Amino acid sequence: MGAPKKLFIKTFGCQMNVYDSERMQDALKAEGYENTDSADDADLILLNTCHIREKAAEKVYSDLGRFKPLKAKKPDLKIGVTGCVAQAEGEEIIRRQPMVDLVVGPQSYHNLPKMLEKTKTEGALVETDFPPEDKFDHLPKNTAAKRAPTAFLTVQEGCDKFCAFCVVPYTRGAEFSRPVAKIYTEAQELITRGVQDITLLGQNVNAFHGEYENGHMGLAALIHKLSDIDGLKRIRFTTSHPNDMDDALIDAYASCEALMPYLHLPVQSGSDKILKAMNRKHTADSYIKIIARIRETRPDIALSGDFIVGFPGETDQDFEDTMDLVRKVNYAQAFSFKYSERPGTPAADRKGQVPEDVKSDRLQRLQNLLGEQQAAFMQSMVGCEMDILFERKGRLENQLIGRNPYLQNVHVISRDIQIGDLRTVRITGAEPNSLAGTLL
Ligand code: 5AD
Ligand code: SF4
Repeated sequence: MGAPKKLFIKTFGCQMNVYDSERMQDALKAEGYENTDSADDADLILLNTCHIREKAAEKVYSDLGRFKPLKAKKPDLKIGVTGCVAQAEGEEIIRRQPMVDLVVGPQSYHNLPKMLEKTKTEGALVETDFPPEDKFDHLPKNTAAKRAPTAFLTVQEGCDKFCAFCVVPYTRGAEFSRPVAKIYTEAQELITRGVQDITLLGQNVNAFHGEYENGHMGLAALIHKLSDIDGLKRIRFTTSHPNDMDDALIDAYASCEALMPYLHLPVQSGSDKILKAMNRKHTADSYIKIIARIRETRPDIALSGDFIVGFPGETDQDFEDTMDLVRKVNYAQAFSFKYSERPGTPAADRKGQVPEDVKSDRLQRLQNLLGEQQAAFMQSMVGCEMDILFERKGRLENQLIGRNPYLQNVHVISRDIQIGDLRTVRITGAEPNSLAGTLL
């Protein structure tokens, strides 16, 4: 056998892509590939792309351009594009960048090794079908590549909601839930490897309805079931839609100790007119009522959200409605974006596109408000005692970084902590994006 082949994989976008990249690494490890951090050393370069941000495809093309000299030097180098840009662009990628060998959509990763082999005789290959078989059945086991105490576990993929701005229903396809037994086995394997904190992933994770015995199980029941596994201390899930926040799931915040008090529940806008135009199928008021029920069940919950400003037709008043909603909800943290067109989505050619400078002003105001709320939430932790699961080393000597139940980063300096320890810490200070603490 020759030297191991080297795989360089660059991951963009959401946590599901992080999970997918790890699964692809596992699949290619079985074919003799080792990971490398340097594209220069690689025998195979994969760009696992995200299509959600503006000009995502253009950025991929310019990234690919940078690999051109490498390919010229090393003709055996294989270059692949995976993820949502691969799904959306398909053949177009090979047309614009003929040096690309492989274009593989998110539902076909299990075919990667086979496809790589085929490119040797057949040239460039594109696979962007949604094959009927469960790709998870064909991917090797989740080996939680970095041996960290935290891991992602994809339980659901795709989306049937068709929000007017969003590419996900087109790039990830129809909503699909994995069977409970398979998720359970994967969770058990992760825990055997030392994982204590699992984030269940899905584009519409709270619409989960995985096969179980002769019927189906929802997300709340899945969380309860997983929480029985010895050694699993913390469970989170992301991303959710307000309409799928059922009573059982809200109740789990009180009845399931392992479910952490953190919820990412995007609302996108506080204006009913805009929510309707976005095809969100909920109102500002119904969202606020859900939040109130969650807070009744779990008063300390840390809430996070996503916002889009400048959706076509958004007036000053619509934007003020968003600001009002943010004031009512009071977020622990949030993500906010200027609307940008995604070709092929219903909103892309709508009338009433908002000028760029108006979008920028609105985004600035919204982010100022969200920033104040985040700072206040951070500050409210100072003086409190809480359990921190330590995940990685910090930059300073003897510094470790872990997360509290609210998903905030906490830095502690101590010789007595190891990665993987769950220890009680008193919070002593708050910075914009992290907390400092001392071990109790
Ligand atoms: N323009 C701006 N933001 C968008 N998002 C999704 N599509 C668009 C778009 N076309 C944001 C939404 C979503 C998050 C992941 O990205 O807020 O919840
Ligand atoms: Fe996109 Fe989420 Fe809407 Fe689905 S629910 S279309 S993933 S924004």
